[in-house]
Amino acid sequence: MGLTLFRFKFILILLVIIILLLFCSIGILKVLNFHRGGLRLINNCVSFKSSLLKGHTQLPKIETCQKSDFIRDLWLGRWTRYGKNDGCQISNDGRYRCLAPDFPCQSPWCSGSLGLLESNGWVYSSHCSFRLFSADSAWNCLKNRWIFFWGDSNHVDTIRNMLNFVLDLPQIPSVPRRFDMNFSNPNDASQNVRITSIFNGHWNETLNYEGFNSLADEGFRNLLKKYFSEDTLPDTIIMNSGLHDGVHWRNLRSYTAGADYAASFWKEVMDSVRQRGLAVPHIFYRTTVATGGYARTLQFNPNKMEVYNWVALEKFRQAGLVTGVIDDFDMTFPWHFDNRCNDGVHYGRGPAKMKWRDGEIGHQYFVDLMLAHVLLNAMCSK
Ligand SMILES: *[C@@H]1O[C@H](CO)[C@@H](O)[C@H](O)[C@H]1NC(C)=O
Ligand SMILES: *[C@@H]1O[C@H](CO)[C@@H](O)[C@H](O)[C@H]1NC(C)=O
Repeated sequence: MGLTLFRFKFILILLVIIILLLFCSIGILKVLNFHRGGLRLINNCVSFKSSLLKGHTQLPKIETCQKSDFIRDLWLGRWTRYGKNDGCQISNDGRYRCLAPDFPCQSPWCSGSLGLLESNGWVYSSHCSFRLFSADSAWNCLKNRWIFFWGDSNHVDTIRNMLNFVLDLPQIPSVPRRFDMNFSNPNDASQNVRITSIFNGHWNETLNYEGFNSLADEGFRNLLKKYFSEDTLPDTIIMNSGLHDGVHWRNLRSYTAGADYAASFWKEVMDSVRQRGLAVPHIFYRTTVATGGYARTLQFNPNKMEVYNWVALEKFRQAGLVTGVIDDFDMTFPWHFDNRCNDGVHYGRGPAKMKWRDGEIGHQYFVDLMLAHVLLNAMCSK
């Protein structure tokens, strides 16, 4: 009997609380302010509501990335959107110029011009947010520098996108898997940058699926060493591994040994630079992409590659090689469920108004263009 009464009271109190909360949320109590008690209730209700709201909408305090922000291994970023053009059409050249080129970034999610990202309003940020570079600011950062890339074919796309979209060189239709070239600013011939890129999917640039095992070839090792044996050296190395390794190394134990060897190879190269009294290049490890759509189930599936990424990074860190990390796995992951932003294994294929893998015309290339800006942030921040 006593227990039933207790239960009844409990349910009654619960009901009153639920009704009060309901009133709070729909603001009905506003019409009940006929005396002081009601007024106090409304005040309490309003302050309760606003503290609830505050709890939910408190923005993380993020600021523009500094050099030290790239030390962090794991990024837990997000893509946010605050511009949208519903009527946006693909151009004949395959590009999506949805927002005005000067459409501004919104603080704190990025700084610079969001329109240039051709993402119809999307932008990526992590524990810090990124600056989107204009051609002038990118050239001012890269002038007189030598950037050395070592990695898979995603580098090939990213480099071309950086040249086409950011560095104002749209006439360069592609770059090869292996090259060493000087580029100059079309608006200021005194500004030059040297970019070298060596594919590591295989020691033979026309073949695939060796990954770190490409270092088993002496000719390939010598090719790499050559760039670090002269008086002038690259100032920055951006390296990755991944998709090809996913095919070659059948299990974690064998991959760990491969990553160990790759780390010891690069350590030897850097030690020789140090012994000659020269400045050792800054090395950024860029994690590999999350493969998308149909490619999610292949040998380089994201579950496997995420683990391989961290093993490689750990080995390179232990060898004292890593200046910073760029977590492209985190950047690509939200877009890997279908092929809208990738062809399975590349996020930066050149824009084209043609049938894409998913049957639609054209594809989105902004995820890789975002990476190009993130690389610039890593190379240029103080
Ligand atoms: C690029 O420029 C550097 C220095 O100006 C020079 O040493 C190098 O040979 C050039 N590379 C090519 C491929 O022209
Ligand atoms: C690279 O592979 C291709 C295709 O198998 C072959 O024709 C070529 O001779 C190889 N190049 C080298 C340098 O081994």
